[in-house]
Amino acid sequence: MWNLVRLCHSLLKAPCPPQFKLTHYQRLWAILTIGFMLAGLSTALGARSGALERQGRALAERMCARCHATGNSGPSAHNAAPAFRELSRRVDLDSFANRLRYGLVSGHPDMPTFRFSREDARALTAYLRSIQGP
Ligand code: HEC
Repeated sequence: MWNLVRLCHSLLKAPCPPQFKLTHYQRLWAILTIGFMLAGLSTALGARSGALERQGRALAERMCARCHATGNSGPSAHNAAPAFRELSRRVDLDSFANRLRYGLVSGHPDMPTFRFSREDARALTAYLRSIQGP
């Protein structure tokens, strides 16, 4: 902890009482500590969003693949159903999770109305985002 206080002083070039002065070695050590903490945090967040997308992909394959192309390539099984990788051209993905939660209606007689839990809606939307083409 003291190392961090000292590092701040040395980075800010603030006048520092002599007992707070850092040796090069201590400074290196403190920077490494912070670096590792940030790296750990971003790995944890990355793993979390990967799991969400995998869950969303499983939902899409189970519930929607009968008609829609749910992956990165290939045509939809139902020829009127848009491929999921191109969905952002037709629907606003920012509000899509809410549409899934409160009842997604396509206006097409073939497509059933879906109502998702909050968690599933987030997962499916995260997956859809991850596969959108240019
Ligand atoms: C039985 C076939 C079928 C299933 C199952 C199905 N869809 Fe569809 N979906 C369609 C068809 C057909 C359309 C084209 C509707 C149109 O063009 O009006 C469509 C259109 C859509 C659209 C575009 C709506 C718009 O406003 O442009 C979205 C989004 C969508 N589906 C999401 C889903 C999701 C998510 C699932 C699974 C949870 C799903 N669909 C399951 C047949 C289906």
